[in-house]
Amino acid sequence: MDNLIRDIEDRNDIDRLMLRFYSRVMADDLIGYIFTDVAKLDLDRHLPVIGDFWETIIFQTGVYTRHGRNPLQVHGELNEKEPLLPEHFRRWLEIFTQITDELFAGEKADFIKVRAAAIAERMMQFVGGVQRGEISFPRSV
Ligand code: HEM
Repeated sequence: MDNLIRDIEDRNDIDRLMLRFYSRVMADDLIGYIFTDVAKLDLDRHLPVIGDFWETIIFQTGVYTRHGRNPLQVHGELNEKEPLLPEHFRRWLEIFTQITDELFAGEKADFIKVRAAAIAERMMQFVGGVQRGEISFPRSV
């Protein structure tokens, strides 16, 4: 049943998580505009790609590689349009953690939160370095 909290079991669960995450994040007072106004994110096009990213992390299927994309690069480009700040990353992670806890509990749910936090930290360090001129961008990341 849908309202029973259980672990993330398959791709469908990832898609549910992402749909809910992006609808919450896009309506957020602090970071929503980055998705809607800066990136003008087309959810129908992006959700399958983002689902592939998390499927690759959680179930190691490798499907994200077919897009030939690199999230650090994507966010590096986004940071050129609008500086991504530590408080943006904090809010992103807060919402991600909250939505995961609303829907799931278990080993995979713990793992996705740990991975999200680690990637957010790495991305934040990267764009911070670019903003301070310590890292030149574009570069191969
Ligand atoms: C400040 C926090 C963040 C903001 C504002 C943000 C915003 C965005 C936006 C606007 C896009 C679409 C970019 C485009 O194609 O035009 C995007 C893509 C994406 N984001 Fe983030 N993001 C943030 C942090 C993160 C973090 C921490 C992760 C992972 C843990 C993440 C994972 C992804 C992935 C996988 C994509 C799709 C990349 C692709 O197209 O291949 N984001 N993000």
